[in-house]
Amino acid sequence: MGAVVLGTGSCLPGKVLTNHDLEKIIDTSDEWIRSRTGISTRRISGKGEETYKLAETAARRALVASQVSADEIDLIIVATMSSHMIMPSCACFVQNELGAANAFAYDINAACSGFLFALDSGEKYLCAERDKKILLIGAETLSSRTDWKDRNTCILFGDGAGAVVMEYRDDNCGVVASNLFSDGSLWKLLYMHNAPSYNPDLEQPDNPGAHILMEGREVFKYAVKAMEGAIRELLDRQNIELSAIDLMIPHQANIRILNKLVSRLGIDQEKVFINVQKYGNTSAASIPIALDEANREGRLKRDNLLLICSFGGGFTWGASLLRW
Ligand code: COA
Repeated sequence: MGAVVLGTGSCLPGKVLTNHDLEKIIDTSDEWIRSRTGISTRRISGKGEETYKLAETAARRALVASQVSADEIDLIIVATMSSHMIMPSCACFVQNELGAANAFAYDINAACSGFLFALDSGEKYLCAERDKKILLIGAETLSSRTDWKDRNTCILFGDGAGAVVMEYRDDNCGVVASNLFSDGSLWKLLYMHNAPSYNPDLEQPDNPGAHILMEGREVFKYAVKAMEGAIRELLDRQNIELSAIDLMIPHQANIRILNKLVSRLGIDQEKVFINVQKYGNTSAASIPIALDEANREGRLKRDNLLLICSFGGGFTWGASLLRW
């Protein structure tokens, strides 16, 4: 094995948006949202809480927890689809804010699976470059990429960031294996346009603006099946029984997706970490935020087997196993 997590951190913006607040701007109800999604509140960025600022604060907390200084970091990867600029990357803004002068930095976009995909890239980098330290961040301000008049989507998403510091260690802890997938043929079920094109030939038909569009029911069906398949295949390959998992941290999309996944897998509900009720779906940030909360609550002990899984636009999905 090798790529171990040294410490975790997270950052949620201060403003809390409740379902009752949403009742005032769209035709919905607290009861509908809670029963269909499990979400009660989500956090929304205010001034000065851009994606890179949330990412920076989460990263600083992870660095403190790891007792690592910013100039010891060799690589920063930010998983995001809601940076305030397309170029430079969010990761370059974070590098500058942290003063991580020795790090190279880039973003990846795998939608809600971004952190899982970053973890895989980071693990492979560490296994090849064994004396390095890396910072992996999932950060989003989906409040800036949501159509606040569309009740099908605006109830679901929230803002936040989570981070981990990792290094290579020659012991039996760290990332055990990952099992990642994409299927670009299904992009139309969950997508977001870019800004309008300056080249009229490349203008996309019916571009309503850069906000999330979704066929909720279809996404729901695929998400459960895809995550279940990725997990079962990963465990089979590693010859590990589901009962050996100490904690499962799924992407926090929606309580009904999670309940269905948990019941199909047959994993003990008590082993599943859920905080979607507080933060909604924070996309690439959801897993590292949950990881940090679980860590701070003492739910992760040395040698524990941790299962992470996600699903998102693309479609992208997968699962990873870590020995803590
Ligand atoms: N408040 C009240 N009613 C709403 C509503 C809201 N916020 N959003 C939709 N509705 C209405 C619909 O208009 C529809 O009304 P109609 O029957 O009169 O047409 C009715 O509720 C049912 O809509 P439907 O979309 O079929 O609901 P659903 O049970 O599938 O729940 C989701 C909608 C979005 C909660 C559900 O499909 C879901 O969770 N999908 C997965 C989404 C997701 O997690 N995406 C991210 C993956 S990373």
